[in-house]
Amino acid sequence: MTESYRFREVEPEPVLASKANNDPLVLAHARALLASTREGACAYVDCDARDPEAILDAASRTLDFTRPVGLMMLGILGSVWDDEEAYAIRDRLVAALAPGSYLVFEDGTNAINREAADAAEKTRAEDGDPYRLRDRGQMTRFLTGLEVLEPGLVSVSQWRPEEGRWAVPDAVNAFCAVAAKR
Ligand SMILES: C[S@@+](CC[C@H](N)C(=O)[O-])C[C@H]1O[C@@H](n2cnc3c(N)ncnc32)[C@H](O)[C@@H]1O
Repeated sequence: MTESYRFREVEPEPVLASKANNDPLVLAHARALLASTREGACAYVDCDARDPEAILDAASRTLDFTRPVGLMMLGILGSVWDDEEAYAIRDRLVAALAPGSYLVFEDGTNAINREAADAAEKTRAEDGDPYRLRDRGQMTRFLTGLEVLEPGLVSVSQWRPEEGRWAVPDAVNAFCAVAAKR
């Protein structure tokens, strides 16, 4: 058996990715920089995070939602100021995931340094681009119904830091978690 034959035998399944954003500049860069190849497919969809049905509809042209997928909600839910609307968006997207899927969640919080977070929120609001920084309880709700992997919902600087080389970094005003849908 030749190396190449063995390689074909264990060739991984194609990676499929679909990214949603509503900023035309981001989408233009994404389309220019990351193209589909033989190894996988990328699609970029011009969608508003407030419209999960449109996101699912567009993403389903690339992704097979009957199989596990990774849903990454990174630095996005704070742009939805209303808590109930943000939870509903998350709920709709998670509901579409097959068992075995993962949610990777990251967002700004006010739980570590409240004063700095309040100042940041105020500046964003004054600039006409409000971004909500939620407390730990409000952030935890985004993980409802999922099995949260160790070390749980923690500061991004403290999610599995490399051991031995550096001291564990201080907590910062951003939390993250990885959670499985069973
Ligand atoms: C903090 S960045 C995070 C980008 C990316 N998720 C990452 O982690 O690198 C927030 C992104 O969300 C996009 N965005 C803001 N509000 C949005 C909305 N309502 N719908 C879709 N995208 C939005 C912005 O254009 C920006 O690119």
